[in-house]
Amino acid sequence: MGITPGDLARRKILPSLFKRYCSRQIPEGSAIIGVARGEMDNAGYRQMAAEAIREFAGGRHCDDGTLDTFLDLLHYQLVDARGERGWTELKSLLTDDHVRSFYFSVAPGLFGDLAERLHLHGMTTPECRVVVEKPFGHDLETARALNQTLAAHFEENQIYRIDHYLGKETVQNLMAIRFGNLLFEPLWNSQYVDHIQITVAESVGVGGRGGYYDTAGAMRDMVQNHLMQLLCLIAMEPPARFDPDAVRDEKLKVIRALQPVAPHHIVRGQYGPGEDDTPDYRTAVDNPRSTTESYVALKAEVENWRWAGTPFYLRTGKRLKARSSVINVVFKNLPHSIFGEEAGSHTNILSIRLQPNEGITLRVTIKEPGPGGMRLIDVPLDMTFADALGPDGEDPPDAYERLIMDVMRGNQTLFMRGDEVEAAWAWTDPIIANWEARGDVPKPYESGSAGPGHAEQILARDKRVWIGIAP
Ligand code: BG6
Repeated sequence: MGITPGDLARRKILPSLFKRYCSRQIPEGSAIIGVARGEMDNAGYRQMAAEAIREFAGGRHCDDGTLDTFLDLLHYQLVDARGERGWTELKSLLTDDHVRSFYFSVAPGLFGDLAERLHLHGMTTPECRVVVEKPFGHDLETARALNQTLAAHFEENQIYRIDHYLGKETVQNLMAIRFGNLLFEPLWNSQYVDHIQITVAESVGVGGRGGYYDTAGAMRDMVQNHLMQLLCLIAMEPPARFDPDAVRDEKLKVIRALQPVAPHHIVRGQYGPGEDDTPDYRTAVDNPRSTTESYVALKAEVENWRWAGTPFYLRTGKRLKARSSVINVVFKNLPHSIFGEEAGSHTNILSIRLQPNEGITLRVTIKEPGPGGMRLIDVPLDMTFADALGPDGEDPPDAYERLIMDVMRGNQTLFMRGDEVEAAWAWTDPIIANWEARGDVPKPYESGSAGPGHAEQILARDKRVWIGIAP
């Protein structure tokens, strides 16, 4: 496995590899090779890795000697992506009897150079894999070019495009909830579902990533990929089998059924300063005139037999009142209440909490206890996965643990296929082009709020309301 000692390697990749090593899923004899352009020796790399693992791997087994044996698997090699330096040495570190995965955690502009050098130096094999991180393109055109660049050296079944949301335990649970239970699927259509709300709220701001983020914005950074993937998993038809192409074919059909979004069905926002003196968006990205959005809310319509008439409302933003990713499936009202209007009526809502506090809640209507007339109240049937799985249950693995192991096992189910990524851009591009053509300026919103008030109007027009963002 070839990886770079960048930020993602420190925070995610190395700690995830270590945790899988602790679970005995990385065999002795494996080599993990950090590759970058800076000067460093193996000892320096191992020290950096040890510090990263102590900080980000939750301290597991760090002091019982396991960390030391893991560090022995690590090597560092300097290479010049656009020159000859280091490639022969890198090749000498690879053995023939292991699966090779090349993890390109680099600027996409280097994908082609790296692929070409690996090929020229005889390191690519029919069984090898290449992992690429987002952003996978900036728009349809650049995504297509990246797909073509990779296709020049790798087959599609060797390319693993990471969307870390697909590696989250609870996102995979969406498929288990839908297709592992008889209960929900018969109701999972426009006849019974009034609408669906997908919220991915973050309490953090852009942090140290202002340079990248200001060229992307919430639409490219979150909606085109993570929210799109959630929408697909909620809306797709049951695949015949849980295998890579069967699942990805169904997701692709959902994206292709998405209607263009009318400008009045979308609101962008940009956060202001926080009460705790945190900087506003423009200060955080060091661009006083930035018109990049840190928040998006929109109404998406999937025009197919199952969903025509049932809108999907999506929203995501930074510096919102809480970190909370939830999918709310709001069912239709009863066709008729036998208890009369005075008893009250309530709507069934299935809430799937992706993070934090992962679990599901189904709001059901019952009789208010006590004598007297029939009055109805709604109560939550609540299951928090951490409670249900017991105190001895392990912490959910990090998304990267699952995804990296899937790369090694050769399972592409949780990775985006090239055509899926392109279809997602084809839907996103006109939205962004429209903002640019109109010189649209995002609506300001207070840090720590639920986002700009204008987002309410998207639902208000349909006589609906957003369900509150709660931690
Ligand atoms: C990343 C985005 O893909 O996902 C970030 O680039 C965002 O801007 C992050 O903060 C959210 O991921 P998570 O796992 O914290 O929900």
